[in-house]
Amino acid sequence: MFKEKFNEGIISARDFNREDIEYILNQARVMVHNDKSSDLLKGKILATLFFEPSTRTRLSFESAMHRLGGRVIGFSSAKVSSIKKGESIADTIRTVENYSDCIVIRHPLEGAAKLAAKFAKIPIINAGSGSGEHPTQALLDLLTITEEGKKLDGLNLGIMGDLKYGRTVHSLAILLSNYDVNIYFISPKELMLRNRDKEFLRQRQVKYKEVEKYREILDVLDVLYVTRIQKERFADVEEYDRVKGFYIFTNEDLKVTKDNFKIMHPLPRVSEISAEVDSSSKAIYFKQTYYGIPMRKAILAELLSF
Ligand code: NCD
Repeated sequence: MFKEKFNEGIISARDFNREDIEYILNQARVMVHNDKSSDLLKGKILATLFFEPSTRTRLSFESAMHRLGGRVIGFSSAKVSSIKKGESIADTIRTVENYSDCIVIRHPLEGAAKLAAKFAKIPIINAGSGSGEHPTQALLDLLTITEEGKKLDGLNLGIMGDLKYGRTVHSLAILLSNYDVNIYFISPKELMLRNRDKEFLRQRQVKYKEVEKYREILDVLDVLYVTRIQKERFADVEEYDRVKGFYIFTNEDLKVTKDNFKIMHPLPRVSEISAEVDSSSKAIYFKQTYYGIPMRKAILAELLSF
């Protein structure tokens, strides 16, 4: 059962098998079709600890919790928490667990959520751990793809941009390794998927190809998932300057895509998709932000209801 398996929370996409994914997608679909507020989580408190900036992830978790009748406490910047005074993650978690029933954490360290789960007696949800993972984003991405009429088996998916530092990319590729997909990883050489991620995909016998120029394969794609170059992760500004603006997807590009092609982005966007694309019915990145609500409602309901 999902609830028992994930009683420590949602830490990594690697913990999900196909059955787990299908289960939580189905639970989220129930939430899509039942958009009303409820009091399922009345009396429960969610703590959102955001040590890095966020708009969609934090607000959709908070909105999901409110819509289920629960309450939310937390902070949206490391500057206003005692981390600023030198407190460790472990001590923060051992404190906040006394004030809440579940903790959502975003932190610049790759192993932060895992570490938090080690110390916590309540479920931890990884809302982004450095360049590592962002599993709930990947789950809502799969919900978006399937709710927009596509099957995961047989999907031709392009993932473009910062594949090295982009945590949403890592979780998405890992989840999709449970399906029979063809993945095209599109990036400048400097930002290719790291070896450890490729090794994982090879072990799972995922069919993937690495390319630098998206125009070469655009016509075969069912979905293109674009990501931002993660400026904040670069040790060297000059290295960032060399790759920024590498891709700019425009209306001209849309012309060669399949009729039922969709373009996605976890957002925030910088310049990698031109604003002119927004009005196309193929652009579904704002719909994608909506799917954060049913997916996060489903996750919170699983972890917190009796
Ligand atoms: C992403 C993140 O924080 O990893 N945003 C999100 O949660 N939707 C993507 C990004 O910052 O580029």
